[in-house]
Formats: sequence, C-alpha cells, structure tokens
Amino acid sequence: MSGVGGETYAIPHSSRVCYKLATVSPTEEQRRRMHEQNRQSWNAVTPAHNRKKIGQSEFFSKGGDTLFPEELALLGSLDGVRLLHMQCNCGQDTLSLARRGARVTGVDICDEAIAFARQLAAESGIPAEFHRSDLFDWFEHTSERFDVAFSSYGSVGWLCDLGRWATGVRQVLRPGGRLVLVEFHPIVWSLRADGLRGDPYFIDAPITERAGVGDYVNAALAPSGFEPQPIFENPVPAVSFQWTLADILQAVIDAGLQITHVREYPHANGCEPFEGMRALAGRRYVMPADMPSMPLMLGLAAIRPVR
Ligand SMILES: C[S@@+](CC[C@H](N)C(=O)[O-])C[C@H]1O[C@@H](n2cnc3c(N)ncnc32)[C@H](O)[C@@H]1O
Repeated sequence: MSGVGGETYAIPHSSRVCYKLATVSPTEEQRRRMHEQNRQSWNAVTPAHNRKKIGQSEFFSKGGDTLFPEELALLGSLDGVRLLHMQCNCGQDTLSLARRGARVTGVDICDEAIAFARQLAAESGIPAEFHRSDLFDWFEHTSERFDVAFSSYGSVGWLCDLGRWATGVRQVLRPGGRLVLVEFHPIVWSLRADGLRGDPYFIDAPITERAGVGDYVNAALAPSGFEPQPIFENPVPAVSFQWTLADILQAVIDAGLQITHVREYPHANGCEPFEGMRALAGRRYVMPADMPSMPLMLGLAAIRPVR
C-alpha cells in the first residue's frame, strides 16, 4: 500500500506497520484512500470466503438464522422495525433480521459482498434492500431514518474515524431510535497467535495489514456446511484501526447518544482469534484452560434522545 499517510513505523512484536497521519482525524482525502484500500482488499478476499459457503439460499429458504443470542437480546423485538445493518457484508445476518420481521437496509463498501447479498435475498425470497457504499458517504447522502442502526463482529475496526461514524449513526436514527453494536472486544487483537504476547492495546494510528483482509471464514462461521479449501493469500493490503473500549464509548457519548447497555462477554461468537481456545455449544469460543478469562466481545446499546 502506498501514500496513505507518509511516514511509517513498526509495531513492536508485530508484523504490522503503522502510518503516521499529520492530523489526529484523517483528512477527507486520507479517509477516501484508506477506505478505498479496504474496499479492494475486501473485494479480493470475499470470493474466497464465499466459495466455502454452500447451500446458503437453501439454508435461508428453510428458515435458517445466523444471529447469536447476544445481539438478539440487545435488539429486542424486531417486528416491523426499520433497521439499518451497517457493514452488512454478504447479507446473511441482514436476511436473518428480515426473517424476524425487520424491514432491513444493508450497507457495505464491498462490491462482491453486496452482489452476493442481493443474489441471496432474491434466491431465498427474503425482502431486503442493499446498498454498496462507503458507510460515511452513505450517511451523507441518505435521507432515510431508522428505528435501529445495527453493526456487529469485526466492523468498527475498518473505519478510520469513530467520531464520524457515531455522528452518522445519530443522524440516521429517528428520535428515540437505537444503536446496537456487538463487537469483538478490542483486547482480542492484542492476544494474537500465542495468546498474551500480541500487539499493544493502544495503537493510535492507522495499521497497515500487509496480509490484507484474512481468509478467516472457517467451520466455526458456517451455519450450513463448508467444503474444505486452501487458505486464500490476499495480495491486497488493508488498513485497520485499533479502537479501544473507551474510544467506542466516548464516540457514542460525544455524538449525543445515551448509552443504555454495556456488556462484556467471556466468549467470542463464531471466531477463534488465537490458538487453543475451547469450543462451547452455540459456536462460542472461550479462553484456553491455562489462561485467565478475558472479555472477548462487547455489547452496546444507545438511544437517540427524543429532544
Ligand atoms: C467482518 S465484516 C462484518 C460482518 C457483518 N457484521 C456480517 O453481518 O456478516 C466487515 C465488513 O465491513 C465492510 N466495510 C469495511 N469498511 C467499510 C466502509 N468504510 N463502509 C462500509 N462497509 C465497510 C467490509 O466490506 C466487510 O463486509
């Protein structure tokens, strides 16, 4: 990757590299370049993710559902709810939300993911609207208002400006509307590979993922079965952002949303971020037996005040 922010520095103990930005918040040009880089990296890896998924439309046609209890508890009743699914990827969760009665709009920057989502909706006969766009551009151009804005599992770490994200969320919520976020806890990205010797928790700069967006789709994420395939080596680097728990909470508060629920969970849903994790029922993974428990996911709900 070239030209994102000029000078680079290595993260200690890591194969990743940081870019120094001239300003604390990225400029508009930097934002476009970094998010465009991510669009290309997601486009490169998504066909590899999708070639491992088989029988998705049949799964949904037969009533399949990919949602986990954590998001369902925070979302509450979905019947008739106008729901924005931010960074919806290939639309499986979007269609699961629609199946539960929500009127859903999914937005994602990745061309391949949105094409897959549209086809899946058509084939499974579940109504859903999908937009291919950078979320920040979409916030700027939409006049739609939603009862719920929802995002989950590996989303905010691809966005270069959390303040802008939270402000956009507030704007697209009707007064009284709610943000629901279920994410991997940011500490997870500090516990890579061999457990405790990972990357620093505090990395105050864009991170170049030289290996690009990973081919992380594995049996744990498969509701309907996978064909074993070799791991795809992504030739397109990506840019990620290490937002701490405080960064996320503060951005939501600063945007004028009132936080109603904050949750930490000792398990990760459908994701085994490092070796030796123990698999529990319901596609949950917990810390290895010889390591202390850690928060592996976080949940957040916040409301746009009525006045
Ligand atoms: C790990 S996936 C999220 C999974 C998702 N929660 C689901 O339901 O499957 C992250 C998604 O963020 C999308 N993304 C990354 N940067 C984005 C941006 N600036 N605007 C919109 N989508 C973005 C990627 O294309 C990718 O599909």
